[in-house]
Amino acid sequence: MPSVSRKGLSMPQSPIRKLVPFAENAKKKGAKVIHLNIGQPDIKTPQLALDAVKNNNLTVLEYSRTEGSEGFREKVAGYYEKHQIHVTASDIIVTTGGSEALAFAMSTIADNDDEIIIPEPFYANYNGFATACGVKVVPVISKLEDNFALPPIEDFEKLITAKTRAILICNPGNPTGYLYSKEEIQKLAVIVKKHDLYLIADEVYREFTYNEEGHYSILQEEGLDEHAIIIDSVSKRYSMCGARIGFLVSKNKEVISTALKFGQARLSPPTYAQIAAEAALDTPQSYFDDVKTEYLQRRNLLISELEKIEGIEVAKPQGAFYCIVELPITDADDFAQWLLEDFRVDNETVMVAPASGFYATPGLGKNQIRIAYVLDQTSLKRAVHILGEALKSYIG
Ligand SMILES: Cc1ncc(COP(=O)(O)O)c(C=O)c1O
Repeated sequence: MPSVSRKGLSMPQSPIRKLVPFAENAKKKGAKVIHLNIGQPDIKTPQLALDAVKNNNLTVLEYSRTEGSEGFREKVAGYYEKHQIHVTASDIIVTTGGSEALAFAMSTIADNDDEIIIPEPFYANYNGFATACGVKVVPVISKLEDNFALPPIEDFEKLITAKTRAILICNPGNPTGYLYSKEEIQKLAVIVKKHDLYLIADEVYREFTYNEEGHYSILQEEGLDEHAIIIDSVSKRYSMCGARIGFLVSKNKEVISTALKFGQARLSPPTYAQIAAEAALDTPQSYFDDVKTEYLQRRNLLISELEKIEGIEVAKPQGAFYCIVELPITDADDFAQWLLEDFRVDNETVMVAPASGFYATPGLGKNQIRIAYVLDQTSLKRAVHILGEALKSYIG
């Protein structure tokens, strides 16, 4: 039998999806599973985006331009302008989700065995994209007791080698919910300029911020134009994950022209989805205000309910819709599986994401889980109650 590639064998399994068969099994046996594990928002997609697809009069579903249609990119540039990010359509490549933007960014800036430094815990798929691109992820540890703030800049500097190509941050963070301050971005700006590195910021949760300062983008920082690459997406912003539209944004012309060659190989981003995403850009501010209020209430409820459970530590997220919770156990993977296989309260259980998959350093995050608060408040409260009961039973 022919063998698959070493690269394929070393591709990590998604820590979020690997428990799915156990959840399916629980459901088949009639149990209700409350999903705290996955970042699929329950918020409605703006109607105007759905209508734009329904009402269009296309007769041939053609390829679009590789970089995305001109009109759409111009509107996207207008969106950035509203966020004090000054870019033009030519600084934007439309991708098939932020996922493809990540793959393009890594392929554009790094060769085999090059290194990218990433504060951990980080969005687990960074590992997958790095493996696919032959890039080595070098983690720098951020800690729950610091709320997952930016690690000291000296910790980054210690890790920089001749192979380092970039620092990658997620802001606000998945899975930490941490929102980097302007000062933290400025510290990163200094170090990437000093060592001539790229700074890649995954800003797909830009709108989801819960403190007064709000979001500060790397492209708002002066003097970073040649270094900064933004990864973006409409998936969470407009609750349209299935559209598969994202963006790679950079003022660095060589980055854009190189990423475009990777884009040419896949021809174009999806046409219908661009129509939907373009319409979504007209979503009124009131939609975001309502969504933000809802997430803020959920976050507050979640944290206050979790804090009632004895023996757990929880980071207070300022952005996105995730938080990391440390449990008084040693193996969160085992606990998460046990929840699905063996634990029920009135025939209900919860599915959580074990956090070890969000770390690159072996052994870290073993006693942590990630919770996504993309559920209505009643379900969220019920889920935390079940989690508390489960812990008592598991530990007991
Ligand atoms: C931090 C982060 N980046 C990128 C993505 C990819 O999103 P998409 O490919 O749907 O745009 C996700 C999805 O969950 C994410 O959480």
